[in-house]
Amino acid sequence: MPVHYDPFSDQAMRDPFPLYAAMRAEGGPHFMPEYNAWALTRFQDVWDASMHHEADVTWTAGALPTQLFLGEPIPHAFTTMDAPAHRKWRGVVRRDYTPEGARAHEARFRALTREVLAPLLAQGGFDAYRDYANRVFCLNSGHNLGLPMEDAITWRALIDEIVHREPGQKGSSPRNQSAAAELGGYLFAYVSRIRRDPSLASGHTAAYMNAEIDGERLDDVGLVNILMNFLILGSETTPMVCAGALHYLEQHPEQKAAVLADLSLVPRLFLETARFDQPTNMLGRRAVRDFTVGGAQIKAGQVLLYIYASACRDEAEFERADAFDIFRTHHRDLIYGAGGHKCLGMHLATMGGVILLEEFMRAAPDYRVELANCERAYGEHLSGFLRVPVGFAPL
Ligand code: HEM
Repeated sequence: MPVHYDPFSDQAMRDPFPLYAAMRAEGGPHFMPEYNAWALTRFQDVWDASMHHEADVTWTAGALPTQLFLGEPIPHAFTTMDAPAHRKWRGVVRRDYTPEGARAHEARFRALTREVLAPLLAQGGFDAYRDYANRVFCLNSGHNLGLPMEDAITWRALIDEIVHREPGQKGSSPRNQSAAAELGGYLFAYVSRIRRDPSLASGHTAAYMNAEIDGERLDDVGLVNILMNFLILGSETTPMVCAGALHYLEQHPEQKAAVLADLSLVPRLFLETARFDQPTNMLGRRAVRDFTVGGAQIKAGQVLLYIYASACRDEAEFERADAFDIFRTHHRDLIYGAGGHKCLGMHLATMGGVILLEEFMRAAPDYRVELANCERAYGEHLSGFLRVPVGFAPL
């Protein structure tokens, strides 16, 4: 039976893993005639396209399925630039995101985590995504960007609204668009404040406001696009992995006992969760010339979806790929993508995710996850848990 895959179908938005397995079994990239596009679902194909065909595709046509398939707007930022400009604009804040750069933020991040966790511990229960991990990462993104911390709750609610999808929804709804416009308005007001008084600018905002590359400086729209990107990319994915880690451990009591007995296993837990339930799900590019990947002849102009969540479950790369096993060895992975656009925040994500899990598990080792009340994201892009209630004896 041929597979029919549409990233906007209810099945793909609800639980795409059976579709991914069926497409991998086809033995090569899956063609989607209605979009003149290819879905890359096998590890090797995503790897080869990322590592060997960077010059054959463009990021300027957008990276989200809604941009590539439905023509939704593509905010101009380094995430949607090609080399060499991409490298230069990404490089403005690169130092904060190297392994050493991430480590330099470790003590502050841990202190922030403890500050958020302390009142939650007294309650005896909370939602590991919303009340804890997402809150810490939003506050941290605000700090990195230089935004007023007291506004974190406002922008977090708006990001939730931007990514929210209703069953049957294809593309952004008026609800999503009005939240994006409101977040844009908030950021424009902030940018105009710091333009009037540059001494108010700090963090990434100051770095990008002062950057001049090849004689070009960012205007207000360019600056807002960068801030919006960092705010969204920096606050959703890692918390989903943290929440997912608690969910999957609860389903595997022997692994839970092992981690609680030895918290040095937490980095393994974080990475295995990110492999097992890769949160960005997919990103796309458009081919600018003909090339071959995984035996498929890609034509200039066609779209390629790099389906990371599928590649991370490929049996050809990972033994017992559908088993959650924190003790597995990763030889190579695509959790954070690969190639020149590989996730800028990967060291921050891993460090922060590990700290969040360690701090909670150390403080409340008797915790239980309410598996029946966990909820997953619904949509074509982000994938993972958005609600993971935990309970424990109040501290
Ligand atoms: C577990 C958490 C995360 C995962 C799984 C993840 C995954 C990814 C993936 C797959 C890409 C695309 C790579 C490509 O196009 O080849 C990406 C890009 C990016 N990520 Fe992450 N990410 C995570 C957390 C973060 C965090 C915390 C930040 C905070 C700054 C961040 C910032 C970015 C940025 C700025 C890009 C665009 C890079 C570019 O275009 O050059 N990510 N991420």
